[in-house]
This record gives sequence, structure tokens and C-alpha cells, in this order.
Amino acid sequence: MIKSYERESWASRWGFILAAAGSAIGLGNIWRFPYLAGENGGAAFLLIYLVCIILIGYPLMINEMVVGRKTHRNPVGAFRELAPNTPWWLVGSLGVLAGFTILSFYSIVAGWSLAYIYKTVVGALTPGTDFAGMFVGHITSLWEPIIWHAVFMGLTILVVAGGINKGIQRAVQVLMPLLFILLLVLIGRALTLPGAGAGLTFYLAPDFSEITGRTLLSAVGQAFFSLSLGMGAMITYGSYLRDKDEIAGNGAAVVGLDTLIAVMGGFAIFPAVFALGYDPAAGPGLTFITLPAVFAEMSGGVFFGFLFFTLLAIAALTSAISLLEVVVAWLVDQHRWPRVRAAVVLGVVIFLVGLPATLGYNVLSGVTFLGMDLLDTYDFISGNIMLPLGGLLTAIFVGYVWGTKNAQAEANKVAGAFRIGDWWGFLIRYVVPVAIAAIMFFGIYDTIKSFLAG
Ligand code: PFF
Repeated sequence: MIKSYERESWASRWGFILAAAGSAIGLGNIWRFPYLAGENGGAAFLLIYLVCIILIGYPLMINEMVVGRKTHRNPVGAFRELAPNTPWWLVGSLGVLAGFTILSFYSIVAGWSLAYIYKTVVGALTPGTDFAGMFVGHITSLWEPIIWHAVFMGLTILVVAGGINKGIQRAVQVLMPLLFILLLVLIGRALTLPGAGAGLTFYLAPDFSEITGRTLLSAVGQAFFSLSLGMGAMITYGSYLRDKDEIAGNGAAVVGLDTLIAVMGGFAIFPAVFALGYDPAAGPGLTFITLPAVFAEMSGGVFFGFLFFTLLAIAALTSAISLLEVVVAWLVDQHRWPRVRAAVVLGVVIFLVGLPATLGYNVLSGVTFLGMDLLDTYDFISGNIMLPLGGLLTAIFVGYVWGTKNAQAEANKVAGAFRIGDWWGFLIRYVVPVAIAAIMFFGIYDTIKSFLAG
């Protein structure tokens, strides 16, 4: 085990917020959130999601940041330090494994956005195109998605191998606001399409009749996925915080920004889905089918399309960096691997592990798990099982082993900052574990039951 050695810190408050928000804001907001909302009843899902963010997401965000700053360690090292000679470090390992699994399919979807940059530039987004057919054609082709998956993993390796330098931080500082503005433009365009109102009704008027245990599980899983919780990404990023950095407010900024972008993603997509006659329950293709259709209808669509998919790829990259960073930090901290070797070896292995997820759309299309194709299976197991389980165990750890009083003292070290009160300890000890355990139980039960019912 590693004792103390020189470790970097974020240079400023905004450096941390941007990096953590960069991790949180990604495909989860603009690709995963809208399609899950589309499959799970729209407004009802949105509402449940927001409740999950407040009652589970925010308390756990604080939880991870505190553990990170207290120990200045990667997830495995952090648990080892707070509870030496106990098996709690296994929770950190579960996180490392989750990061590994998520990145292997995340990179494939990020590859789709790279492919769509290319498609936009070569003029594929013309009005009247069958965009659903175009998307299916892309993902079912053999080599194209593999090549873009390789390109994306290559970019991720490059950044992580070099350390998270000022370049990325400076770039994100410009690009994230640009993504925000562009989303506003897209929302404006989507809302003014004839027939957009039905999409707004779907997104804003809840109908709870469709809610099942699976819906709740998807909402919790999405809260974890979108906030980068449950696998130690925020422990790792929090481990580079300085003692004078404040936690409650920084955590709130990250959670708030992430939620804002996800909600905006829905406003850009659902009005367009209904106006253009697509099915909101189309699944993972939703964003890649509806937005190109909107671009094709817009004047300057090629320009906006290019910009949008570029920014989506960048948002994905800043998230992928944090996924790979968790795994790399573990090898570097605990096993003393040189950073470059760790990044390259892990990146290549993750690339290979991801291959079945894309082959599931062609040569492996016969392979399914509980009725899901392979990419959905990776996504379901990591997002809906591993992350909530990681969050549940981390809450139990802080709530009952390390102690919420110790965590509160660590979080409240900075005088004058927004303080973490006893309400937080209550949420971490009772509300969070009970809610996650119950929702996981019913969600998995429902998923299996509806599969068996055909
Ligand atoms: N939060 C990212 C997104 O919403 O796209 C995905 C992610 C990154 C999940 C880092 C988990 C993680 F640790």
C-alpha cells in the first residue's frame, strides 16, 4: 500500500468545478437521459429523476468528494486508508471495474457522434432522408463503428497519458458554454417546429400509469450515471481538492449544471420527436435520429450539425477522461505503474472489451441478455447495477463505518462556507441506503418478471 507522496491539486475552485462538471456532463445528458425518458413515460420519468437527484444524487456527491479530499487517494486507496485491514477496499475495486465497463461501451456511442460529425460534413443531413434508416445502417455496419470507437479511445488515451493538463481545462472552459448556447438554439428550433406541442405535453405532463420498478431503477441508474457517481470518479477528482476548498457549494454547482443540461436535452429532443413523427421510445438511437432530422430542416443545418456533434464528442471526451482516470489512478497509485503505460494498456484492453457491444448490432445480434442487445446489456449492468450498488455501499461505509460526523467535520473545514448539516448524515444513513436497496430490488425483480412474461 502507498503511504504519502506528492500529489497534484486543482489550481482553482473553477478548475475543480469544470473538471467535475466535465465528467458529469456527457452522453448521459444528451443521449442517455432523453431516450430513457422517452422509454419510461416522459414527464413522470423527469419528475422521478429530479427527486432522485435531490434525495440520492446530491448527498452522494458530497459523500464521494469528502472521502476523496480526506484521503487524497484513488477509490481503492481511499477505502484502505479509512478502514485499514478490512475488505472495504473491495468497494473501490467495484468502482474501478464499473469505470472499465462503462468506458468500453461509452466509447462506442462517442464513436457514433464522431461518425456523425463526418456524416454532417460530407452532406448526409439533407431533408427527406430516412434518418432512422441511416442510424441503423451505421450501427449495423461492421467496421465503421469499430474504427470510430478506436479513434475515440485513442483520443482518451492521449489526454489521460499526458495528465489532465491545463489545455483540456482551458478548452472545456470555452466549449462547455458553447454547448450550452447551442442547446438553447436547438431548443428554439425544436419548439418552433409545427406539432412541437405534443412533445412538450409528453415531457411536462406526467402520466404515472406507466411507472414500474424498472422505471424507478432506470431513474436511479441515470442519476448515478449522469452525475458520475457510484464508481469513485468523484472520490478521485475530490482527492485533488485542497483543504481550503469548499465542498457543499462545489458539489451543488456540479449537480446543478449537470441537471440543467439534461433537462435542456429533453427540451431539444421531445418537441422534435413529436413534430417529425418519430417514436419517443426508440431507444439508444433517439438523439442520433431526431437531431439530424432537425438539422436537415434548419437553415445553416450543416454548420449547426457539425458544431453540435463536435461539442457532443467533446462532452463525451471530458467524461471518458474521468472514467479512464479512475482506472489509471488505481494502477499508478496502488501498483506504481507509469501513467503512460497504464493509460495505453488499459485503453487498448477497454477498446477490446467494448467490441462485443458494437458487434451485437451485426455478427453477434443473436446474443441477448434478458431481452437486451449487448450494448444495452453493458449499459444496464454497469449503470443500473454496479453504480447504484457502489453508491449504496459507499453510503453504508460513510454512514456506519467511517461515520457521518467525521465526514461532516471534513466537509465543514472551510470557515464561512455553506455547511453540511445533520440533515446530510440522516440522508446518508437512512434515506439513501433504503431507497437504493428498495429500488434495486424492485427494479431487478420487474426486469426479470417482464422478461419472463415475454
Ligand atoms: N457522467 C457521464 C455522462 O453523463 O455522460 C458518464 C460517466 C462518467 C459515468 C464518469 C460515470 C463516471 F464515473
